[in-house]
Amino acid sequence: MRDERSWPWVLPEAAAAAAALVLVLALACQFDTTEGVSVPTVTCSSGNEGCSVTNYLREFPDRSQCRAAAVVYPSTEQELVAAVAQAVRNGQKMRVVSKGSHSIPKLVCPGGNGTGLIISTRDYDQNIVVDRAAQTATLDAGVRLKPFVDTVAGYGLAFPHLPYWAGLSISGVLATGAHGSGLWGKGSGVYEYVTAMRLVVPASAAEGYAKVISLVAGQDDELLNAARVSLGVLGVVSTITLQLQPQFKRSITFVQKSDSDLESQILPNAWHNEFGDILWQPALKLAVYRLDNRVSLGTFGRGTNNFTGFQAQSSALIAANRISEEEAEALQSGEQKCVQLAAVHSAMVATAFGYTSNGLLFTGYPIVGYQNSLQTSGPCDDATLPTFVCPWDRRTKSSYYLQTTFSVPLAKVAAFIVDVKSMVALRPSALCGPGLYLGVLMRYVKKSSGAFLGELEDAVDVDFTYYRSLDPKTPRLDEDVMEEIEQMLLFKYKARPHWAKNRNVAFATTPSLYPDLPRFLRAMKQLDPDRLFSNEFTDAVLDVDGAASTLQKFAPFCALDGLCICSEDIHCAPASGYFCRPGLVYKEARVCRKVKSSRR
Ligand SMILES: Cc1cc2nc3c(=O)[nH]c(=O)nc-3n(C[C@H](O)[C@H](O)[C@H](O)COP(=O)(O)OP(=O)(O)OC[C@H]3O[C@@H](n4cnc5c(N)ncnc54)[C@H](O)[C@@H]3O)c2cc1C
Ligand SMILES: *[C@@H]1O[C@H](CO)[C@@H](O)[C@H](O)[C@H]1NC(C)=O
Ligand SMILES: *[C@@H]1O[C@H](CO)[C@@H](O)[C@H](O)[C@H]1NC(C)=O
Repeated sequence: MRDERSWPWVLPEAAAAAAALVLVLALACQFDTTEGVSVPTVTCSSGNEGCSVTNYLREFPDRSQCRAAAVVYPSTEQELVAAVAQAVRNGQKMRVVSKGSHSIPKLVCPGGNGTGLIISTRDYDQNIVVDRAAQTATLDAGVRLKPFVDTVAGYGLAFPHLPYWAGLSISGVLATGAHGSGLWGKGSGVYEYVTAMRLVVPASAAEGYAKVISLVAGQDDELLNAARVSLGVLGVVSTITLQLQPQFKRSITFVQKSDSDLESQILPNAWHNEFGDILWQPALKLAVYRLDNRVSLGTFGRGTNNFTGFQAQSSALIAANRISEEEAEALQSGEQKCVQLAAVHSAMVATAFGYTSNGLLFTGYPIVGYQNSLQTSGPCDDATLPTFVCPWDRRTKSSYYLQTTFSVPLAKVAAFIVDVKSMVALRPSALCGPGLYLGVLMRYVKKSSGAFLGELEDAVDVDFTYYRSLDPKTPRLDEDVMEEIEQMLLFKYKARPHWAKNRNVAFATTPSLYPDLPRFLRAMKQLDPDRLFSNEFTDAVLDVDGAASTLQKFAPFCALDGLCICSEDIHCAPASGYFCRPGLVYKEARVCRKVKSSRR
């Protein structure tokens, strides 16, 4: 039975069995059923004690709370202008947050230690204006990916590349430089397809404290290249105009092979597949190649992307998976995780990861379908039953994890793969844990045509997700291995961290990576001279007034959550046997390793 309890990439059959086993757990779960959907990420006290905001995992990397004075939910541009104007008049700090708050770092917290304003785009999602002749769509900032792609499909149009999760908002996707996968044409960065944006920015008293600026590609490129990927520090993005193309179909086949020649296959896979990616399971020595190209609209097929990990699942099953992970952690059993992984992974491959041939069932490759049905999946966070939720829904005993996601320059990715293989050779079970979260998702991203904070060169984005302890003082099984990989990416490969999917230390080299950072900061000073839209985290990652030095917070246990790179044992958990040690393959790394004796 244990083999089938596996997070969260489970089969319906396994689900039924495990759900029966742990039904009792469901009864113990406490739900906030007032909404019927996920608990909102912004909550306000009924009295006058203000509001708080968090991310979709309900925990920032440093596990801190974020307090703010108030929240507003504008639904029109006029309301947005009024909200910004009032805050500017009061000298109040502001940050924008989407309905789902899907960025992990502490981006959405307003500065001002409890005095700031949260501007939510939850209700600002009504307009998707399609210009059929120009093949563009202009979206309100809060529009989420699923309504966007389905609406444009109704006009016979399509958008080429999106993140794989449909619950994201378009302005959150742009602000964090989010992408799909592919190197053809303009590549997979959503920000590459922006033709115009409207922003609400602070203004003088004479101008009414806030104004709308309209940026058009070809006319306002200096500001637009700052606004395409802005981390939200320029002002509030009001609308976004994206370049579309005629609707098309795709033909998808997943092929699993040994990973023995992965380093030589990774580039050909990108040249041969417009939407190619690779799912690598280093612990299993397997790689799943996505063979994925456009086909003519006449090709038969109504396939859909119902990726298992983004479907609502039984909360009892989700709890069982977490418990099984916690058990393996407590027993320090990498082997137990490997047994689980082998079962989950083969089940995922056998069921085409949840993709269907016809909207219901997978009946064999290739999967052919319309672009809007295949490019992104979900959202499960509108599930109506609280007993049937997204795997990360913390109203339940849910999955809970950290992420490490970096873009490795194409020329260096083969060497990175070889290094990870060397780690596996030394510690064969260490990457079984991350494997339970799908393994290493490898996606292609092209050098940006101009976005100052966009992709720096053609690269492979490598995406690791892995267990996080609920207790900040409890180390993770094999945590030294993930820490070494993170530091390799940072220092050896000079890789670029994804703005939304990392622990704080991932940004340790960020200011030095971006040659156009000064141009970005000039745009920021021009649009928001009083830095009302900046917070402690954006100041640190953009190195405003030398704030980069405040990124790492050295304290006992700080390395466990990636708040620091350890330099002393106390930064790990010496009482639990975890000491600060050099890396195994990348010797310059300093990682928390479980050792029998504290002697070096
Ligand atoms: C399940 C899941 C799957 C994912 N898949 C992918 C993927 O395939 N590819 C990928 O690249 N990323 C992916 N991500 C990361 C994701 O792209 C980012 O988390 C995303 O950009 C956040 O979107 P959001 O709409 O929730 O925005 P938030 O997290 O709410 O906001 C993100 C940032 O944008 C700012 N912001 C938002 N709206 C505005 C606005 N109107 N004006 C100014 N600033 C604004 C916020 O202040 C914040 O700094 C995934 C995340 C999750 C949880
Ligand atoms: C933030 O505000 C709280 C009370 O509202 C206070 O206790 C705390 O010291 C403040 N922190 C900083 C850094 O000013
Ligand atoms: C499967 O995906 C399709 C297309 O994206 C979507 O319309 C449908 O609701 C999904 N089905 C489930 C059960 O999630």
